[in-house]
Amino acid sequence: MKDTYGRTINYLRLSVTDRCNLRCGYCMPEEGVAALRHEEVLTYEELLAVATAAVSLGVSKIRVTGGEPLVRRGIVDFIARLAALPGSPEIVLTTNGLLLAEQAPALKAAGLARVNVSLDTLRSERFLAITRREGLEQVLAGIEAAEKAGLVPLKINVVPLLGVNSDEIADFARLTLAHPWEIRFIEYMPVSSGLAYSPERRMPAPAIYAELGRVGPLVPLNRDHDNGPAQLFRYPDSHGRIGLIPAVSSHFCDECNRLRVTADGRVRPCLLSDQEIDLRQHLRSGASVETVATILAEAILGKPAGHRIGADDFVPGRRRMHGIGG
Ligand code: 5AD
Ligand code: SF4
Repeated sequence: MKDTYGRTINYLRLSVTDRCNLRCGYCMPEEGVAALRHEEVLTYEELLAVATAAVSLGVSKIRVTGGEPLVRRGIVDFIARLAALPGSPEIVLTTNGLLLAEQAPALKAAGLARVNVSLDTLRSERFLAITRREGLEQVLAGIEAAEKAGLVPLKINVVPLLGVNSDEIADFARLTLAHPWEIRFIEYMPVSSGLAYSPERRMPAPAIYAELGRVGPLVPLNRDHDNGPAQLFRYPDSHGRIGLIPAVSSHFCDECNRLRVTADGRVRPCLLSDQEIDLRQHLRSGASVETVATILAEAILGKPAGHRIGADDFVPGRRRMHGIGG
């Protein structure tokens, strides 16, 4: 369905948990956060009702996110049920990769199309500094297992932070020379306040682009609309490709095709606005899938024209990324 600005909304990001087995400095405080209570999180039945309603409105792609979606018990069965919805929507998953090695074959068999793995460093001491947990080897094993299972094309999301991992951009980019992966560099967004990295850590897209140029000449590729806001490049003879996502410095809001639902059942028409609609209350008072669809349609019509980052009156939101699903 179209929103009031003529954008077709066909992509749902569905967060299945706010919990995570990492504590990335830009996402969570060191001590972690008070997780949602069990009864606050939508059940798989409720999530499925939301997905069914979304599909009835024309959603054709569903991204399962968290927190870390693979920490929720029963996730493989849930993915199988999503994939079996009418119209067979494409089901994809964003994960930190820690539990991917053991789950990749089952996820593929359940009908998952592919995965995006979030990884900000290739050095183990640094992995510990950024995520406050051990686990680089596990993530790399997860990436390998996902590829072997056929969850491809595999994408790796990197958030460059000045003075933290910005010296690894070329190392990440070089991975595309040997592997058919898409390495996506995402500009750091000041989504919420009070975290380890201040907004000044943001490496602007032009600076990322300059770093990428040190590996070789970048050949621009045509944008494919499936790829959201990423600008795509490759190196001559590379197997993979590079994505650059200027999340802050360029406004791609006019192409936004997404709707987000948080683990506690709030629809967020925009990542960067605290405007939310409580679906859970309706789900728990017996709303039919049609009613849920009506509420989602209202949320779609309530999508703002664009985000306000950079505007004088922008205030970071109350929710952190693990509570929204990225
Ligand atoms: N800015 C940019 N990207 C972020 N992510 C999490 N928090 C931020 C932020 N503040 C990324 C994660 C993951 C994806 C879901 O969002 O690294 O790749
Ligand atoms: Fe977990 Fe992703 Fe947040 Fe890191 S960024 S703490 S992996 S939810």
